[in-house]
Amino acid sequence: MTKTPAADPTDLLWDYLKGFHAVHHLAMGTEMGLFEKIAAAGVSGCNPSDLAGDLGLHPPYVDVWCRSGYHYGFLEAGEAGCFRLAPMMDKLLVDTKDPRNLAPYITSTVNFGSDDLRSYPEFFRTGGTHRFQDHGEDFSRHVGDTTAGFHTVVARHMLGGVPGLKDKLAAGAAVLDVGCGTAGLIIKIAQAWPNSQCHGIDIDPHGVEQARANVAASDVAGRVTVEAVGPDGIGRDEAFDLAVMFEVLHEIDDAIRPDVLKDVGRSLKPGGVLFILDETYPSDLAGLRDPGFNFAVQTQFNELIWGNVVPTIEMQRDLFAGAGLKEIMREPIGGIFTKLVAVKE
Ligand SMILES: C[S@@+](CC[C@H](N)C(=O)[O-])C[C@H]1O[C@@H](n2cnc3c(N)ncnc32)[C@H](O)[C@@H]1O
Repeated sequence: MTKTPAADPTDLLWDYLKGFHAVHHLAMGTEMGLFEKIAAAGVSGCNPSDLAGDLGLHPPYVDVWCRSGYHYGFLEAGEAGCFRLAPMMDKLLVDTKDPRNLAPYITSTVNFGSDDLRSYPEFFRTGGTHRFQDHGEDFSRHVGDTTAGFHTVVARHMLGGVPGLKDKLAAGAAVLDVGCGTAGLIIKIAQAWPNSQCHGIDIDPHGVEQARANVAASDVAGRVTVEAVGPDGIGRDEAFDLAVMFEVLHEIDDAIRPDVLKDVGRSLKPGGVLFILDETYPSDLAGLRDPGFNFAVQTQFNELIWGNVVPTIEMQRDLFAGAGLKEIMREPIGGIFTKLVAVKE
């Protein structure tokens, strides 16, 4: 939960410093395979020296890593000097299929986020940007890993839960994924709804290249296409029953966002649905300290030099109105995202 100045100011800063080191501890444990190995040992746990031996690591360092992990609450005491994972840590750090898995987010925060943050002073002086698409191939792949856990939940449960959409998808719908990245979501949608025809678009050449390879290697290659588009969008009229945007709205350059939304609106058939899962930025100062906006506030700061502007509820509603879309559903998801559904009138 977000700390406020009501907490002891010294504790506040020490807690944040501890958090910085704890995140690095998690990233190291993920990258060196330590969490995976400890998870495999189950409740009896692993002895640090055996763990080091199995992974080819320096035993005294692994011993301190284990003790620190126990201090942070990531590990618990197992049998006879062994350490095991604390409850839930297998789901949060090891099970890549679990939507709650945070390991890719943790490692990308440490690897890519740190590089970005180091260049903030320069960008604060110049006002320049280093956009999502400037980060390169590895970054695009890593983002696909970060969002992967959510794709099945969105494709099957969230889309199936939109009133009237389940029947449309089951019968066979034309689906557009705007900002498809490496195609994880559009592949899951095609798999969940076997009569659907799916099309992903993105402006990131690295993402599109990986998306094409992922689609080709999937079992739905015949029903999924991927297209590299320019900032102007897709330019296709009334072609789709459903458009989805997962973690995309706040990534679209705000100077062209109204035009992109209009383009998406035009590409929907009358009665077509736009489904969005994205952050909503607080509209006032009280919201900045409301834990429900934690992730939105964090994202806005982390993605500042990407040129991203996380939209407020007012901005989202203006975008819908300008695109001829009527909001029919708005729901906070896990204090992280807002689920938004709009229909073309
Ligand atoms: C955080 S990523 C999410 C990717 C994907 N939806 C997923 O679930 O992994 C945001 C994506 O939006 C794309 N994007 C940004 N602006 C766009 C635009 N105007 N049109 C299409 N895609 C855009 C970015 O290139 C990036 O691939």
